[in-house]
Amino acid sequence: MAYENLLVDVSERIATITFNRPKSLNALNPATVRELGAALEEVSSRTDVGAVLLTGAGEKAFIAGADITVMKDFSTLEALDFALLGQRVLAYIEQMPQPVIGAINGFALGGGCEVAMACDLLIAADTARFGQPEVNLGIIPGYGGTQRLPRLVGRNLAKELVLTGEMITAQRAYEIGLVNKVVPAADLMTVARETAKKILSRGPVAVRTAKMAMNRGLDLDLGNACALEASLFAAGFSTADRAEGIAAFIEKRKANFTGK
Ligand code: CAA
Repeated sequence: MAYENLLVDVSERIATITFNRPKSLNALNPATVRELGAALEEVSSRTDVGAVLLTGAGEKAFIAGADITVMKDFSTLEALDFALLGQRVLAYIEQMPQPVIGAINGFALGGGCEVAMACDLLIAADTARFGQPEVNLGIIPGYGGTQRLPRLVGRNLAKELVLTGEMITAQRAYEIGLVNKVVPAADLMTVARETAKKILSRGPVAVRTAKMAMNRGLDLDLGNACALEASLFAAGFSTADRAEGIAAFIEKRKANFTGK
């Protein structure tokens, strides 16, 4: 499928989705968010895709937030629809079977920081900047920023970011646990692909169900979350991957997983 605002490339079982509106620093207009939803659905249903990378075109921005020029004329209902559209697509990132790695190549602000937070892992270029600057515009985050940020970095650090609207460096984002790794900008895509490949070499069904256990479990109380984990742990014992993974360990050889 062809997209107007995204580039989609699949190679070595890794789908790379690139936000491609560099003139507006890859700002998210409704069409781009809808295309992201469609692209994620497309790649998630492909059996030749085991991992997804999200990144931004150009050297400056991952995504500089929702498109402010579009929001300028929003009615209350249009704003509600825009928030719910983004929230649906970000929830899809969390629920799709493949791991999604954010390769954050520059500004990840507002909706951009919110897209990043929905990913499973974040690798940031040392030039990246993170923030929820919505209060500078007299609005609040709408793609889950007030909810995912406190869950990721804790309530007080999240409040500092959301209430001051100030940006932080990639290094600071690493220190507060918002990103997994900071690398030189020139190495970003290589490191992101290496991370994806490492995950791809593991048991595919296990990777998929571990993602589900963590993302679904975080919305539950600990008792129910652990019950979910036990069910998924037990279900894993019916897979060919389990038989192969354990046999390979005992036979001291590399596992040849089939994802079945
Ligand atoms: N929407 C629309 N256009 C944007 C944009 C955005 N979010 N961010 C940047 N652009 C445009 C600029 O208007 C500019 O366009 P022109 O060349 O036509 O003037 C172009 O991208 C380059 O930007 P700057 O000249 O501003 O670049 P800079 O290096 O001086 O500053 C920046 C970079 C700090 C990221 C600055 O552009 C900025 O502050 N952008 C807005 C960030 C923001 O407030 N994001 C939150 C949006 S609200 C939101 O996301 C709500 C939500 O939760 C869903």
